[in-house]
Amino acid sequence: MSELRFPDNFLWGAATAAYQIEGAAREDGRGPSIWDTFSRTPGKVHQGQTGDVACDHYHRYAEDVALMAELGLRAYRFSIAWPRVQPDGTGPVNPRGLDFYDRLVDALLERGIDPIVTLYHWDLPQTLGDRGGWTNRETAEHFATYATAAYARLGDRVDVWTTLNEPWCSAYLGYGSGVHAPGEQDAAAAFTAVHHLLLGHGLAARALRAAGARTVGITLNPADVRPADESSAADAAAVRLVDGLHNRIFLDPLLAGGYPEDVLEHLSRIVEPTFVRDGDEKLIAAPIDLLGINYYQPTYVAGRPDGGGGGGAYPGTDGAVEFLPPVGPLTDMGWMVEPAGLTRLLERIATDYPGVPLLITENGAAYPDKAGADSPDGPGQVADTDRIAYLEGHLRAAHEAISRGVDLRGYLVWSLLDNFEWAEGYRRRFGIVHVNYLTQRRTPKASARWYQEVISRNGL
Ligand code: FCB
Repeated sequence: MSELRFPDNFLWGAATAAYQIEGAAREDGRGPSIWDTFSRTPGKVHQGQTGDVACDHYHRYAEDVALMAELGLRAYRFSIAWPRVQPDGTGPVNPRGLDFYDRLVDALLERGIDPIVTLYHWDLPQTLGDRGGWTNRETAEHFATYATAAYARLGDRVDVWTTLNEPWCSAYLGYGSGVHAPGEQDAAAAFTAVHHLLLGHGLAARALRAAGARTVGITLNPADVRPADESSAADAAAVRLVDGLHNRIFLDPLLAGGYPEDVLEHLSRIVEPTFVRDGDEKLIAAPIDLLGINYYQPTYVAGRPDGGGGGGAYPGTDGAVEFLPPVGPLTDMGWMVEPAGLTRLLERIATDYPGVPLLITENGAAYPDKAGADSPDGPGQVADTDRIAYLEGHLRAAHEAISRGVDLRGYLVWSLLDNFEWAEGYRRRFGIVHVNYLTQRRTPKASARWYQEVISRNGL
């Protein structure tokens, strides 16, 4: 294959999230989050695993930053745990919680790595969860207060501030299918949460700007929704419905001024959207400087009156849509590998919502890697050629989008480290660095060395 070069200043990096790596769940005044509660609820997470210790990054951040520097990362996306900053979600700021991020940011800057902050990667303070979580409008207001506190401490050194990670998951998996915290199964609650998450973004973005933030954005996981049969009108209608529920319900209010009519009509059959108040849409639509895109696999759908729909994650699609099972070869998550989906998605967003720079804030794959003495690849070796193939395919797809004119600023691999993969616990390994959870030993996989090369050559 031909050599590919990425634009100068293309931002190469890696991403993680607080609850997935930090551990130290009760240290330095951190309050409980809905994920602490959820992971302790029997049957919710694989083998009852929790983020109590995770990768112990809270104590090992210096070692982890040294590793990032060794790999040549230019950017590192991490999330701040709201319950470290405000243990109850409201009220006084806990300075010891912010001290950790202060140390982390300084360590990154010393190594020339740009910090990219996510303010919310799903670990809502439990006290706010008890008051209805994202179904309560007040949560959006509290989120802006928390954002202001985080900015006040780190804004002098952190340039890039993103509000939410994948509000689709927070709303539909948290309140619709119940696969994520807080584990509710209530379609009306899911739609209510969608709006309050977007409102939280809008309020926080406004507060960050008022405080002086230069680059403000949000990360979504838009789906590349495809028809089972390109020539079927029924399948095209299914694509339109699913695209509305997954993509346009977020993208339109953020980047096109308000909710799409067809989506409002659909959700009105489930809940009267009285939670959308005058002025909300204007606030949510305030311009952003960056849109983060997380992409893993495409979504194939067919229009069928007997279709089972997407369950709680796609309220109201039963009896209208069939979600096709992914076809192999699959990753260890059971996800499809289709790099062309990334090109399509980036182009579509750039076309339909022009003018916003894009950043791939997550892309990567889980494979069942083993390191250590018993590694099939030799002691202490992880020859993850399947991950390298996944990453290479998706980088080529990203490059293709750039060559078609998409303003793509960078690529952050998910993830730096193997970590707590939510409901799947520790059994799914997404890291380019292997973590032995008994010893906390980090072992860069072959993919880490490969990525290091890609970064140093600025291409493939
Ligand atoms: C995304 C999440 C991230 C990680 C990857 C695999 O949905 O943002 O935390 O779990 O999936």
